[in-house]
Amino acid sequence: MTKLDLHYVEPRLVELYDRANPRGADTDFYLGLAAELQAQTIVDLGFGTGLLTRELAAAGRRVIGVDPSPAMLAYARRKPGAERVAWVEGDSSALGTPAADLAMMTGNVAQVFLTDDEWATTLRHMHQALRPGGYLAFESRNPAARAWEQWNRETTYEKSYTPFGVVEEWLELVHVGDGRVRFEAYNVFDTGETLVVPSELRFRTLEEITRSLTSTGFSVAHVYGDWQRGPFVDTSRLMVVVARRN
Ligand SMILES: C[S@@+](CC[C@H](N)C(=O)[O-])C[C@H]1O[C@@H](n2cnc3c(N)ncnc32)[C@H](O)[C@@H]1O
Repeated sequence: MTKLDLHYVEPRLVELYDRANPRGADTDFYLGLAAELQAQTIVDLGFGTGLLTRELAAAGRRVIGVDPSPAMLAYARRKPGAERVAWVEGDSSALGTPAADLAMMTGNVAQVFLTDDEWATTLRHMHQALRPGGYLAFESRNPAARAWEQWNRETTYEKSYTPFGVVEEWLELVHVGDGRVRFEAYNVFDTGETLVVPSELRFRTLEEITRSLTSTGFSVAHVYGDWQRGPFVDTSRLMVVVARRN
């Protein structure tokens, strides 16, 4: 069974997810890509609250959303337009073989796969879910930009007024090593309750990503350095990868 961060399990944190991760340039990028590729069948692995998933389906496409979190799934299902999506609780092994035109992992889902084995298995399942010539798109933070150096209380502190009262939030870095970053997200409610969410992400280099894609039967079509399709350079914060199933 997939081990899930408390962010995707605790009902209040699930409810607050879209406030911290609202619709943005990333949403526009993936919607634009789906339109440009004229994708009719799309799979979205790790759909979260399903914000993008529902928009993709609104255009009359066949959209399959897969996520292992029952709480995220329940939230996504309650939202307008949810009835147009085929929601599946599970990990990449639940994707099946829908001969999709486009498969995506958005919101840095690609970084939750900590080991090389988990990543290779996920890519294999994405490959099986696509038709030959179909596209895989995802983003991952560029390790060279060392985002974790900003993951401290001073830089990340935010206080917001939410349906659950005032919530203070910040990140604390715990450990960096072997391409992995461990950190804790603090959530302090005005009742005095503190929820600490331990989390770990894998930061793969572009070389590691390219090698894993090639050995799974993908060709890298584009690597962008931002959501406006600017070129990827060493200092880019993001790697936005579009690969094609051979
Ligand atoms: C940061 S959220 C991204 C949500 C959404 N795609 C977005 O763009 O905002 C990560 C999501 O990945 C899901 N997840 C965690 N482990 C996973 C796994 N092994 N396979 C697929 N999804 C996973 C979580 O349940 C959560 O919904």
